[in-house]
Amino acid sequence: MTTPTPVNVAVIYYSSTGTVAEIAKELAETAERSGAEVRLRRVQELAPQSAIDSNPAWAANAKATADIPEATPDDMVWADAVLFGSPTRYGNVTSQLKQYLDTLGGLWQEGKLADKVYSGFTASATLHGGQESTLLALYNTMHHFGGILVAPGYTDPSKFTDGNPYGTSHVSGGEGELAVEETTLTAAKVQAERVVKMTRALKRGLAAAEDED
Ligand SMILES: Cc1cc2nc3c(=O)[nH]c(=O)nc-3n(C[C@H](O)[C@H](O)[C@H](O)COP(=O)(O)O)c2cc1C
Repeated sequence: MTTPTPVNVAVIYYSSTGTVAEIAKELAETAERSGAEVRLRRVQELAPQSAIDSNPAWAANAKATADIPEATPDDMVWADAVLFGSPTRYGNVTSQLKQYLDTLGGLWQEGKLADKVYSGFTASATLHGGQESTLLALYNTMHHFGGILVAPGYTDPSKFTDGNPYGTSHVSGGEGELAVEETTLTAAKVQAERVVKMTRALKRGLAAAEDED
């Protein structure tokens, strides 16, 4: 039997009140169990301390995740696959995650963001509050990277329960009132397993193609 192709997965997210952070942890743990090397990273907070302190759920999440390293551009170079997470902000990506993406222009110019696997995850307060538009907005950037999108689709029976083929998502009811539960955790497992599997296949295929040249 051949040794499995090594796969590096970066899970890079922003979360104010902890919902997206919970999904990020599940994705990271599943990717690790699937044999990947994993970097779990949160992007830099841009909100003023007074805003964080004024919201107990936000302050609690900031404290609980203080040990998770901040994402740097090097994490993108290192990764074969990147799972990006952001809560919905008016149906769009948060400014915090966008700011991180905006620091990657140099790498983009060097072509170092292309030929990687990308996938996304999100949360919103309400059921039709913009999860799909947030993920599609995120995926605009992945196209500009020259990335390979690996969305979950309906590739597992559980996808007919969580109902989001674009990526793992959770309805939080606001500031984490509706905790991440089994349906969302299952969606995260399915997504992470698929990302690792497809990234491994892509790397193997690219290596074989190079050998043929
Ligand atoms: C400025 C702002 C805009 C938001 N816009 C929406 C929205 O359009 N639709 C929605 O359902 N929730 C919206 N939310 C709620 C968050 O998306 C939701 O609370 C999410 O679960 C937060 O994720 P987090 O716990 O990881 O921070 C918004 C929150 C903020 C602060």
